Amino acid sequence: MMSNMNRQWRLTGRPVGEDFDSVMAFGEEPIKSPGDGEILVKNLHLSLDPANRAWMNEGDTYKAAIPLGGVMEGFTVGVVEESKHPGFSVGDTVSGFGHWEDYSVTNGEGWAKSPDLNKQAFGAHLGIYAIVGPTAYFGLLNICKPQPGETVVVTTAAGAVGSLVGQIAKTKGCRVIGITGSDEKCTWITEELGFDAAINYKTEDVPAALAKLCPDGIDCHFEQVGDSDILDAVLNLMNQNGRISMCGWISAYNLSELPAGPRALLNIIVKRIKMEGFIVFDFMDQMAQCYADLATWLDDGRLKYRVDVVDDLSNAVDALHTLYAGTNQGKLIVKVQDDPSLA
Ligand SMILES: NC(=O)c1ccc[n+]([C@@H]2O[C@H](COP(=O)([O-])OP(=O)(O)OC[C@H]3O[C@@H](n4cnc5c(N)ncnc54)[C@H](OP(=O)(O)O)[C@@H]3O)[C@@H](O)[C@H]2O)c1
Repeated sequence: MMSNMNRQWRLTGRPVGEDFDSVMAFGEEPIKSPGDGEILVKNLHLSLDPANRAWMNEGDTYKAAIPLGGVMEGFTVGVVEESKHPGFSVGDTVSGFGHWEDYSVTNGEGWAKSPDLNKQAFGAHLGIYAIVGPTAYFGLLNICKPQPGETVVVTTAAGAVGSLVGQIAKTKGCRVIGITGSDEKCTWITEELGFDAAINYKTEDVPAALAKLCPDGIDCHFEQVGDSDILDAVLNLMNQNGRISMCGWISAYNLSELPAGPRALLNIIVKRIKMEGFIVFDFMDQMAQCYADLATWLDDGRLKYRVDVVDDLSNAVDALHTLYAGTNQGKLIVKVQDDPSLA
């Protein structure tokens, strides 16, 4: 028997720095019924992503800012409980851009059925397929275009996206160096995931370590942090015609004032380096090939992932902090609510 109440996180103000707790209110209201052309989704898992913080700001990003008083937005996986939409049936497993709430009513725009998704595979869905796998796949393969024997460097290398970037680069025969924030993460990416080397940026001299580990220079760089000193070190070591994929800038998401930017940009001209930003949705038309490749590599053991699952929607705001503290261990997911049908 389902409760008729819908727990929700609403955004009540614009956060300053990492103090987003004070502008997030947890409450509940009656579950809405779907109208014609709509479905009611019971949300089971919520993806927490570094960009969630940027969506709370007043200005638009690659999507519209979340309106004040609005329910916090995020990518969710769930089950259709009621349908007045011809494309969805009760019991369908679906995923899409929803909200931080137990139940969402949607017209289905931005949602997809996941027919092959059994409930035990939700972790794989969010840990690989939903956002992070395609981000790693397209950002590396379409922008860096790594070639066998080339050297690839990736920041936040043990994170949800970064760990996949390094492993995909290995499938292409590259030498892969990961930069991350703890010895445990360094050990995981080298010993479990097959990275050739790792640098702990919190304890090591990154420019010196990179110079030692990249004797033939760097051909491809996958940037997710935006640390100017590290980016300068990479630029100084880039080879002629190197490629840099600009994926994220997590060091700045909570800052009101930005620090000085990188200074070694002259390398881009002199070495004819290509530096290109992207948003994963830019490549929707190529998603079928991406999913097929990810599935192949997952099945044959070339891709591994880990998920960090936090219990209950009420803990979502606390959990979001772990992304900026670096204490998440893989793809950060909130199990929204108890569901007896989940294993
Ligand atoms: N362009 C796109 O379409 C797209 C799509 C998805 C994600 N992204 C971006 O990809 C990046 C990784 O996302 P993810 O979901 O895979 O998260 P994640 O890497 O699983 O988690 C975030 C990690 O970032 C590192 N970090 C946090 N604050 C930092 C700081 N101030 N300086 C340096 N490192 C910091 C921490 O790892 P360490 O222990 O290594 O510090 C933390 O564990 C983010 O920048 C995100 O915005 C972009």
